[in-house]
Amino acid sequence: MPFYLTTPIYYVNATPHIGNAYTTIAADVLSRHHRQRGHDTFFLTGTDEHGSKIARVAAEQGLEPQDFVDRMAPQWQELPKRLSATPDFFIRTSDEGHKAVVQEFLQRIYDAGEIYEGTYDGLYCTACESFYTEAELVGGRCPQHGTVPERVEEKNYFFRLSAYQDRLLALYDENPEYVLPRFRYNEARSFIAGGLDDISVSRASQRWGIPVPWDTDQVIYVWVDALINYWSALTYAREGEDLRETLWPDVRHLLGKDILKFHCVIWPALLLAAGYEVPKQLFVHGFLLLDERKISKSVGNVIDPLDLIDVYGVDPVRFYLLREVQFGHDGNVSVQGLHDRYERELGNDLGNLLSRTTAMVSRYRDGRIPDAPWDESPINEVITELQVEVASRLDRFDLTGALEKIWEAVRGLNAYVESQAPWVLAREGEQTRLDQTLYDLVDGLRAVAIALAAYLPETAPRILGALGQPGDLAWNGVAYGGALPAGDIEPASPLYPRVESPAAAA
Ligand code: MSP
Repeated sequence: MPFYLTTPIYYVNATPHIGNAYTTIAADVLSRHHRQRGHDTFFLTGTDEHGSKIARVAAEQGLEPQDFVDRMAPQWQELPKRLSATPDFFIRTSDEGHKAVVQEFLQRIYDAGEIYEGTYDGLYCTACESFYTEAELVGGRCPQHGTVPERVEEKNYFFRLSAYQDRLLALYDENPEYVLPRFRYNEARSFIAGGLDDISVSRASQRWGIPVPWDTDQVIYVWVDALINYWSALTYAREGEDLRETLWPDVRHLLGKDILKFHCVIWPALLLAAGYEVPKQLFVHGFLLLDERKISKSVGNVIDPLDLIDVYGVDPVRFYLLREVQFGHDGNVSVQGLHDRYERELGNDLGNLLSRTTAMVSRYRDGRIPDAPWDESPINEVITELQVEVASRLDRFDLTGALEKIWEAVRGLNAYVESQAPWVLAREGEQTRLDQTLYDLVDGLRAVAIALAAYLPETAPRILGALGQPGDLAWNGVAYGGALPAGDIEPASPLYPRVESPAAAA
């Protein structure tokens, strides 16, 4: 089964902050999970390099736009690596392969008669790379950036978006889960139902972009250029292969709520106009906030994810963001919050469980894991539920709910240690029950490690290693009774060593 997942492509002029890292981390968790299930997974991310915003910043720095983007792109290419994210391809919209496909794509829409020439007179926010109507402005300012938009009047090419209203409504009505979560589906659908204006798809006053194929005095509007990345990448990501044959339209887009209209309305319409199939599904996530304000470069309250990673490690940062904020909603994050969950959940709940389990195997069974699965084991049920529930929640992009399910299992195992009290069983010579209990703890932790591997890619192999278990992460390993008898188990060193104070990362 193909599973093709994308992140938005990031504006290359900025430096990565925790809000952008969030989308990449979420996409990576889903991609890793689908790989564990044996799906034909393809994860795409990259950079958005054209448009007036980039041209302006390049000019401010006295650089040619191409030199500027070439200097900025490496830090974005580095970001997935620093986040332990595993994209299968990194697209840059300045790639020749992308540019050619964008031109071909637009030409098809033009040839279909869906593009016409007109004059644009409107208010443009460069930070959004988007036009606004007077009604959409708040006190005459951009609703996202609070800046005063510029008046732009020029000859442009227009796409007949208005003609796609009925087809888009039908698409939404036939696919009640086309956009998730549901309140975002409603938002997109009402926007369409409210009537669509045609959109300008070219810029006459700019040079930094992909030339309009039939009128090279104009460049293609940066958002049209950018959206097509999801399609173009498949044509050249693998030399000699056209991945569209296997992966399109099985694509799922992850995006933040600020760019819903482009993805949930304009993008499917552009595909329909070009005669291609629309994406399978879109998931819209919320914003990470700091003190209730969006974390963004323009607000100036950015948290550098790399600073947090330096202090806490990458797994805790991945874990914290997906656990703290219900995926799909807005939510506050803070360094103190990360510190607390690091100590309480990763250090105590998970780390101590491993330390205690390995210490008891070492002490009571001389480092040998007893081969003692048993029919009435309560852990059997816990793990079976984990296998089914985590997968089904992740199929609905419920990354927070799936993680909560795993944490229930972690807490369940901790409660099992207390209720079985292996130290009492040892003292009283209850050998069979002691064997069964130790087996259950090892097997439960092994299954939890596999279930957690998509979230904690560095920690999971360490847990399996400490338990003397093979590193195979296949999803069917999340089943009771998979622990292999192993010897030489030693008390594990702490998974998450103490970090003195959150100030270090602030
Ligand atoms: N270049 C466009 C996307 C083109 S996709 C065809 C763009 N880039 S961006 O760099 O500004 O934003 C990229 C992603 O980061 C968006 O999904 C956006 O929602 C996300 N985030 C930026 N700040 C954010 C938070 N504070 N919280 C969560 N995500 C946010 O838009």
